[in-house]
Amino acid sequence: MTDASAPTAAGATALGATATGEPMMRATGLTVTYGTVEAVRGIDIEIFDGETVALLGANGAGKSSTLRALSRLVKATGTIQFDGRDIIKAQPDAVARAGLIHVPEGRHLFASLTTEENLQVGMTAKGKRDPIFQIDDIYDLFPALTALRKRSAWALSGGEQQMVAIGRGLLSAPRLLLLDEPSLGLAPVIVTAVYGALAQIKHRTAVLVVEQNASLALGLVDRAYVLAVGEIAMAGLSSELTDREALLASYLARETDADDDAVAPSG
Ligand SMILES: Nc1ncnc2c1ncn2[C@@H]1O[C@H](COP(=O)(O)OP(=O)(O)O)[C@@H](O)[C@H]1O
Ligand SMILES: [Mg+2]
Repeated sequence: MTDASAPTAAGATALGATATGEPMMRATGLTVTYGTVEAVRGIDIEIFDGETVALLGANGAGKSSTLRALSRLVKATGTIQFDGRDIIKAQPDAVARAGLIHVPEGRHLFASLTTEENLQVGMTAKGKRDPIFQIDDIYDLFPALTALRKRSAWALSGGEQQMVAIGRGLLSAPRLLLLDEPSLGLAPVIVTAVYGALAQIKHRTAVLVVEQNASLALGLVDRAYVLAVGEIAMAGLSSELTDREALLASYLARETDADDDAVAPSG
């Protein structure tokens, strides 16, 4: 692992210090259940104003379910406070209007709209908040999109769609931006472009980024939570987690490996 996370670690507590000392977002006992599957098992997460935080974990650990619970796309129990408001029962459009903006896995652009039109959708979701980014800022952040302004989203590559999805989220003037696996399935050069852009925006909005690639995420964020089978297994500053790389790796190992052995036919 590189030392890329070192410069960011010290900023975590300083950024978190607000007048009241209260986090912007605090979830306690957050639980998500699908039928008999308890995907998220009573976890506590806090994000302070301006922080960039990662939620790491193996496939199936409950990362996406946690983000969906925070943005109210799935039913959850426990508490979620956002900017001092209790939102555990709020509708997704209401939390988005409050500035809790979710960029889902798979991007979900409007396929028949162009790059520029998809970005404009983000501006309409901004509500009454002051803009943080203008459309031209998004093209500065992702120069590859400049020549693609008029191209329909269905004709964009996966990486280009990811850039538009993040750009659309930024144009919504997020208080807290939730990003679900922004690197998933992208070529290394595109991953570098996306994470380079995230490094540029990280001081302009709070970010909670879900990643399976821990070293990539720890190079960006101030702090991270590690989910394993729906529970927080580790949490700490990026530098601390980088130092505990072997332990971290054990939580990120595919949990299905053991199951595969268990169900293997005996002969
Ligand atoms: N809509 C759903 N219905 C039933 N089970 C689900 C659903 N979504 C996720 N799960 C299950 O919940 C667990 C956590 O999934 P998820 O939150 O997608 O994990 P991650 O994003 O960390 O890969 C997994 O066991 C998954 O199979
Ligand atoms: Mg997921």
